[in-house]
Amino acid sequence: MTFGPELETLVPVYFYCYNLFMQFFCSPSKEDITAVFDRWAWLYDFEKYFFFPLRRKAAKFLGLPINSKVLDVATGTGAQAYELARLGYDVTGADLSSGMLAQAAKKLSPNLKLKFLQADATKLPFPDDSFDASTVSLALHDMSFEVEIGTLNEMKRVTKSGGIILIVDYSEPSMGFVPKLSHEIVRLYESPNYLSFIQLGLLGLLEKMGLSIQSKTGFLGVVQIVKVVNSE
Ligand SMILES: C[S@@+](CC[C@H](N)C(=O)[O-])C[C@H]1O[C@@H](n2cnc3c(N)ncnc32)[C@H](O)[C@@H]1O
Repeated sequence: MTFGPELETLVPVYFYCYNLFMQFFCSPSKEDITAVFDRWAWLYDFEKYFFFPLRRKAAKFLGLPINSKVLDVATGTGAQAYELARLGYDVTGADLSSGMLAQAAKKLSPNLKLKFLQADATKLPFPDDSFDASTVSLALHDMSFEVEIGTLNEMKRVTKSGGIILIVDYSEPSMGFVPKLSHEIVRLYESPNYLSFIQLGLLGLLEKMGLSIQSKTGFLGVVQIVKVVNSE
C-alpha cells in the first residue's frame, strides 16, 4: 500500500489516540504483565491498524535474503512476525502469553512461512545458532532489567554468529515537540519498567552487552529500530 502525505500526517494522531485508549483500558503496573496481556490481547491487536508502517519499516530494515530463518521474541499478537513473513522470511514468533498467541494465530496463512509457539524469552527452547536473525519489538521496555538482559542473552545464543539482532523500541526522548509529548503520554500508562528502560538507554545497554550497533533508524522520533551484528 502506498502511503500518501495525508495518511502520513495522520499517523501521529493515530499513535496518540491509541496510547490514550490503552491508558484507559490497561494498566500493566497494577498486575502481572502476562495476565494483563492475556486479558487485553484482543484490544492490543488493534495496534496493527496504527503501527503497520512501523512494522513494515522494521521488517525491510532487517535486509536479509528471502527464506532466512527469523525468530521474533515476545511476539505478542504477531504483527511484526507477520510483516517479516510477508517479506519471505521463515518466521517463528514466541511469547509467554497464550491470549496474545491466540490473536497471533489469526495471522497464520498457508502463503506465509509463519508459526507461533509459547516460550519464555529468557529460556528459549532452541539450540545455539538456530536462526539467521532474531527480533524483539516493543517488548524490552516492559520487562524488568533481569528479564531484559536474559532475553538479549538468549537472542545472542540462538542467533548465528554474524547474524542480525534487530530491536524495535522507544527512543530516549529527544529534542522536539512530538518526541517530548509522546514520552509524557507513554510514561502515564506504560509499566514501571518503562522509565528505567528510558533512563538506561537502549544503545548504552547494547554496548555494555558487547552488541555493537551496525545501523539504526527511527519512526516518528518516538521509536528506534536498531540493527546489531551478533559477534558470538
Ligand atoms: C508490549 S507487548 C509487544 C508485543 C509485540 N512484540 C509487538 O511488537 O506488538 C510485550 C509482549 O512481551 C511478552 N513477554 C513479556 N515477558 C516475556 C517473556 N519473559 N517471555 C516471552 N514473552 C514475554 C508479553 O506476553 C507481550 O506479548
